[in-house]
Amino acid sequence: MLWPVTTDRTSTGHLAIGGVSLPALADEFGTPLYVYDAETIRQQCARYQSAFAERYPRTRVVYAGKAYLATWLLEMIADAGLGLDVVSGGELVLAARAGFPLDRVVFHGNNKTEDELRLALSLGVGEIVIDNLYEVDLLERLVSGSTAGVDVLIRVNPGIDAHTHDYRKTGIVDSKFGLLIGTGDAARAVERVLRIPGLRLQGYHAHVGSQIFETEPFAAAVDVLFDFAAEMRSRFAYSPRQISPGGGYGIQYEQEDPDPHLDAYARAVGEAATRGAVRHGFDAPLLTVEPGRSIVGPAGVALYRVGAIKDIPGVRRYVCVDGGMADNIRPALYGARYEAELANRASGSRAAVTIAGKYCESGDVLIRDTVMSEPHSGDVLAVPATGAYCLAMSSNYNLALRPPVLVLDRGDARLVQRRERYEDLLARDVVPVRAPVE
Ligand code: LLP
Repeated sequence: MLWPVTTDRTSTGHLAIGGVSLPALADEFGTPLYVYDAETIRQQCARYQSAFAERYPRTRVVYAGKAYLATWLLEMIADAGLGLDVVSGGELVLAARAGFPLDRVVFHGNNKTEDELRLALSLGVGEIVIDNLYEVDLLERLVSGSTAGVDVLIRVNPGIDAHTHDYRKTGIVDSKFGLLIGTGDAARAVERVLRIPGLRLQGYHAHVGSQIFETEPFAAAVDVLFDFAAEMRSRFAYSPRQISPGGGYGIQYEQEDPDPHLDAYARAVGEAATRGAVRHGFDAPLLTVEPGRSIVGPAGVALYRVGAIKDIPGVRRYVCVDGGMADNIRPALYGARYEAELANRASGSRAAVTIAGKYCESGDVLIRDTVMSEPHSGDVLAVPATGAYCLAMSSNYNLALRPPVLVLDRGDARLVQRRERYEDLLARDVVPVRAPVE
């Protein structure tokens, strides 16, 4: 799925989502503008749940908020019955303010601060995923004397090298994430946690990486977790209630990318969990999966207005848009590829172009060397598959104003995040304004 499920072309050639014309939104709200199709998000949540219900009914789907988080989305995620993976105090505070059920929150991170852990404990998050031995120390101190205690998982580094960009690999041995099995650190964490009265060990977690199309690395992670669980049972007589192979299933960004099948993913992971439990004689534990990108990625479309066009004969034609690396760093950071379509008219003659951003950096190119309907200044460009890790990683580079967000649903367009204003940018500078020099 490259475009949201409700995408359409009207008779006038306008691209529409959720029954709402995109160029009309660009005119009304300005560009750059991000729109999300509510129906696609609902469908992705439901597809995860039904795919796993068939393959491994004891599955819990937890949305990884790092992909994109906002109050409106938290409401949808809560309504769909999903849990939430947060990785910072900021995400936690947003979830709390949105009224998200905090007992469904899983707190991740390789270097959670003491303040963040305190906050998580005081808000009563569902689980904390312990990433290292330092965190065991911190938590031991923080829960000592408290009667409540907290459920925890131990994040194990599974030593799996999945096919994805190096920056997105998290399960290889040389990674800052997770406790290594080989060095004995993972076992040491289990031993220690089991002795700390306030920490209730629920089980083991691993995450192999992100934007992964193959299903084997996920199944391999589940195998590793069960093998580790069996070893821990023999040493400490402890059996896990929960196993989590994290998130990371990929999405389509370009026509030529594979269109991943959640069923195949659920089958591979579910079968690995069943196999692991049977192989080692465990009662089927709860299986937690943590999709981020595949829930919101396909639902988002970025809209830009074409401005300057620079033709370098025989070299390249730069089509410059009014956004770029401040709202989507992924091409510059990972060499991520996208494609674009004109939103305000049906396709005409095609042209080889490079879509460049407006920021002061040569690397600010959204789509290098693509062939598309020839854009002219004033056209509205729509870039699909921009729902995940674009706004979430956006910045104020060049003091750019972060774009607004609209949710489109059954003919309705709801503004859910306004555009940043110059006042927002100025508000953080606490130095008093100087009186004008006489
Ligand atoms: N669980 C854990 C522990 C994770 O570290 C991540 C992603 C996820 C779940 C969700 O993975 P997803 O289903 O979204 O692939 N900024 C990069 C992606 C970084 C992913 C980090 N961890 C990108 O734009 O490609």
